[in-house]
Amino acid sequence: MAKILGIGNVVLDIVLTVPHHPLEDEEIRATQKQTTSGGNASNSLHVLTQLGHQTALCATLAADGEAKQLLSNLRARKIDTQHIQTFIKGRTPTSFITLNAQNGHRTIVHFRDLPELSFEHFAKIEIEEYDWLHFEGRNLDNLSGMLNIAKTFLSHQPISLEVEKPREGIEALFPQVNLIIFSHHYAKAKGFIDGQSLLNAIKKTVKHANLVCTWGAKGVWYSTPNDSVHHLPAEPVMPIVDTLGAGDTFNAGLIDGLVKEMSLSQAVTHANSLAAKKCRQPGLDNLLLDNHATPLANIKQLSNAKTLVTPAKDGAPSVVLIKFDDTVKAYENNCPHQNVPLNEAFKIDVNPFEKTLKCSVHEAFLI
Ligand code: FRU
Repeated sequence: MAKILGIGNVVLDIVLTVPHHPLEDEEIRATQKQTTSGGNASNSLHVLTQLGHQTALCATLAADGEAKQLLSNLRARKIDTQHIQTFIKGRTPTSFITLNAQNGHRTIVHFRDLPELSFEHFAKIEIEEYDWLHFEGRNLDNLSGMLNIAKTFLSHQPISLEVEKPREGIEALFPQVNLIIFSHHYAKAKGFIDGQSLLNAIKKTVKHANLVCTWGAKGVWYSTPNDSVHHLPAEPVMPIVDTLGAGDTFNAGLIDGLVKEMSLSQAVTHANSLAAKKCRQPGLDNLLLDNHATPLANIKQLSNAKTLVTPAKDGAPSVVLIKFDDTVKAYENNCPHQNVPLNEAFKIDVNPFEKTLKCSVHEAFLI
């Protein structure tokens, strides 16, 4: 478990699920409305907390009612809010998001008039207390100073920088950090056709950082300082339910992997599957719960005191299901004495009064 400080945004996300992406002048009806907290750094910390880390957010908040909601959401997610800077001027930054139910793609209209985090506020944080600092590549007026402080006061803690969009002067910051995560939006805006060409160009001037470039369905490119650029294809996701925050989840997975001393290649693979998992579910809550387990059978297939043997599939063993009144029990279909299926010799004998089963091979009871 590591202590991770995220420096970036927390935003109010108003997410409308729509049957298709609206056209200009069209009026359509959303099937769902959800109000939640978003923002890249805030989302990444939400995932990192679920991965077992202690996280803190350094961001700005307005003084309105929505800001109170964001603050309580962050606290409910167990993200430390002591480094939040509050402004009287400006309103809660808000993203109006349509989520296309057909393909899980999100379209964001973002409103922001809130001042950016000040250098003075950041300078007061005891950053040495943290094991990792993760910066969103925004607020360029102050970011350079913040990175200078981080470089001066930190001895061994890695610093990561997310480069989502092109911003004037951001390239000057690249030599200051240990890990740079580029998005395809940045790469495309700079005229690159894939992550390979972007990272090869960056490697000419940035000699000491791990570099990663994510490209949605095209996968991820990555490179350590002493190695060439490698590519990892995206994990197939069918159906894609919700891509909102998939990039932020990837960043969290990458930091988690590197904190746990994985190689860059292992950490990218870990991050890739976490991002794919995110795309299979709505929102970012309960990301680590295995809520996509395949059912063994439908309860309607089971009759009282009769066994149902499911076949072995995808590496999972054959299972014997038995229903006694309102209880269903499941046994691995394997006799631990003879190491053969329980129904190897004949069908499994059921005693409905004792509520027991008998292995067909050597008649041992299962209770
Ligand atoms: C997703 C996200 C949203 C937010 C938007 C802009 O990556 O962080 O939660 O509204 O991007 O910050």
